Amino acid sequence: MCGIVGIVGTEPVAPQIVEALKRLEYRGYDSAGVATLQDGKLDRRRAEGKLRNLEAKLESAPLPGLIGIGHTRWATHGKPNETNAHPHATDKLAVVHNGIIENFRELKTGLESKGVRFQTETDTEVVAQLVTWEMHQGRGPIEAVAITLPRLRGAFALGFIFTGEDDLMIGARHGAPLAIGYGHGENYLGSDALALAPFTDEVAYLDDGDWAILTRRGVDIRDEDGQMVQRTRHKIATGSFLADKGNHRHFMAKEIHEQPEVVGRTLAHYVNFTAGRVEIPFDLPFDFKNLKRVSISACGTAYLAGLVSKYWFERLARIPVEIDVASEFRYREAPLEPGSLALFVSQSGETADTLASLRYASAEKQHILSVVNVATSTMARESDVVAATLAGVEIGVASTKAFTCQLTVLLCLAIAAGRARGTLSAADEKELVDALIGVPGLMSEAIKREHQVEMLARELSKAKDVLYLGRGTSYPLALEGALKLKEISYIHAEGYAAGELKHGPIALIDETMPVIVIAPHDALFEKTVSNMQEVAARGGRIILITDEKGALETDLDTMATIVMPSAHPIVAPIVHAVPVQLLAYHTAVFMGKDVDQPRNLAKSVTVE
Ligand code: F6R
Repeated sequence: MCGIVGIVGTEPVAPQIVEALKRLEYRGYDSAGVATLQDGKLDRRRAEGKLRNLEAKLESAPLPGLIGIGHTRWATHGKPNETNAHPHATDKLAVVHNGIIENFRELKTGLESKGVRFQTETDTEVVAQLVTWEMHQGRGPIEAVAITLPRLRGAFALGFIFTGEDDLMIGARHGAPLAIGYGHGENYLGSDALALAPFTDEVAYLDDGDWAILTRRGVDIRDEDGQMVQRTRHKIATGSFLADKGNHRHFMAKEIHEQPEVVGRTLAHYVNFTAGRVEIPFDLPFDFKNLKRVSISACGTAYLAGLVSKYWFERLARIPVEIDVASEFRYREAPLEPGSLALFVSQSGETADTLASLRYASAEKQHILSVVNVATSTMARESDVVAATLAGVEIGVASTKAFTCQLTVLLCLAIAAGRARGTLSAADEKELVDALIGVPGLMSEAIKREHQVEMLARELSKAKDVLYLGRGTSYPLALEGALKLKEISYIHAEGYAAGELKHGPIALIDETMPVIVIAPHDALFEKTVSNMQEVAARGGRIILITDEKGALETDLDTMATIVMPSAHPIVAPIVHAVPVQLLAYHTAVFMGKDVDQPRNLAKSVTVE
C-alpha cells in the first residue's frame, strides 16, 4: 500500500517529508521519493529499497524547496526500481499516487497517439501526462486537474505540485484514503493521520471524490462535482495513532471503507497489471497441473471465502475441491492422497481448529498452502508456502477486509491453476485479470450505496429473523451475510442456497420476515428470480442486492433494491461483499450494539 505525504511549508520540507514517510513504512513499500519546488523549479530524489537509501541521496544532494511531495511505493505497474519510483514528473508538474488507475492502458494509448512519450511502465505517469497535456493546451493547474480527475477510473489517491507554483498543492481522493493536516502558515497532505502527527493534531479526512487545493493560507476542499465543501476537522490524539479510526465511528466501518485500497494492494502482489497476467510471487512446491484434488479447511468467514473459491477452482481450473469447516475436518480422518494440496485460510493464522487441521494434513504428507493475513503467525510458519493477504491489521472482531482480500488471493490462485492446467487460455486469463483490476474501483462505487443501506438497516433492525439467499458464489455470500448480521446485531439470521428454499425454509416465510437476496445478473440470475417469486407469493419482504442489469430485469415488488455497479460474474462476490457487510454494520449500530467487540466473540480463537 503506497504512502503519500505533501507539505506546503515555511522551511525546507524534504527532511519533514522523509520523517512522515517513515511513519507510513508500516504500509509496506519497495522504493521511495521526494520532489520539491525551489523558486518554481522542480527537483526530485528517488531511490529503490528502504528510506535510508533516499536519505543518503538527499544528504549528498539536498532538496531545499519549501513545498514538496513524497511517496513510498509498493510496486503495482512496473518493477520496484528508481525509474518507476514516485514522484513522477514532467516539465509542468510532479505527482504521487496511491492505488490503481484501472483504465491506464486506454488513456496511455490515447496520449501516445497525440505524440506523448512515456518514460516509465507505471499507471501513474498517465496521470502526470494527462494533466500536463491539459496545461500545454493553456489551462492552469487547477483546471487541468479538474478536467483530468473524472477521466480516471479505479481506486486511488493523488498529490500534485506544479512548476512555477510555489504556493499550490492539489490532493485528490477516489477510493484510497487521503487526509488534510492544518498547520500555522503550513498545510499538509497524508495517506493517514499517523503520517501527519509530527506536524499537526488537526486533520480532516477527504470523502470519496473530494479533491483539495492547499496553499500556505488555507485549504479549499471540493467534491466530485467541483462544489466547495467543508469536511469536519478532528483533533487527533497522538498516543492512539496506530489504532486510529480515521473519521469512522468504529474500526469495522474503517475496515469496510479500506477495502478498495487493501484489495488493490493485495491484487498488486499477485497480478502483473501491465502484462494482464497473474504472477504468483513465490515458488510453489507442487504443480497445479498434477493435482488431483484440493482440500480446503478454515473457520467462520475464512471458511466462507474458501467456499467461494471452491466454485472458482472447479470452474476455472477444473480441480475437484473438498471443503470443510476446520473443526470437522480435524476429526473426520479424511483419507488424503499424499502429494495433494491442502489449503488453509485464516486471517489470524492462529485459529486452533484450522491449525490442527493443517497439522493433520501435514502428517498426511499434503502440500500445505496457507492464505493468511498475519505473516508471522503459527500457520504461516508451519506451511510449505504462504499466500499473504495484505489487508493490514484487522481490529474489528467481525472480519471484513480480510475476507475480501482472501477472496482476491484465492481467485488469483484459481486463475494460476487454470493456466497451469490448460483450462484457461491467455485470452480468458486476460479477461479475468482485467475484471480483477476493476474490483477496487467497483468496491469504492459499492461503498457509495452506504446511505441507502443505512436507511434499510433501520427496517432490518426491527426483524427477529432474517433469511439470506443466493446461488453459485452468491450462496457463500448469503452465508456470510447471515453470519455478519448475527454476530454483531444478535438478530437471528440464516443463509440458504436459493434453490434449497422450497425444501424447508420456505415454511418460515411470512410478512415479518425480511429475505435478503444476493443476485448479480449472472447465468443463475433467472433461477434466483424464480425463488424470489416464491418468497413474494408468501408475503416475504425482499431486499434485493443486484447490479444494474439485474435491477432492470426484475419487476418484483421488493422492499428495497440495492443496485451494485456491474461486475464480471467471476469477481462479483468480492464487490457484493460490501453491501452485505454494510447492512450488518448499520443494523448493529442502529441497535446500539458494540460492533467492534460483539459479545462472546474473540478476534483470534485459539481454543477449539
Ligand atoms: C466472523 C469472523 C470469524 C473468523 C473465524 C476464523 O466475522 O471473523 O468467523 O473468520 O474465527 O478466524 P481466522 O480467519 O483468524 O482463522
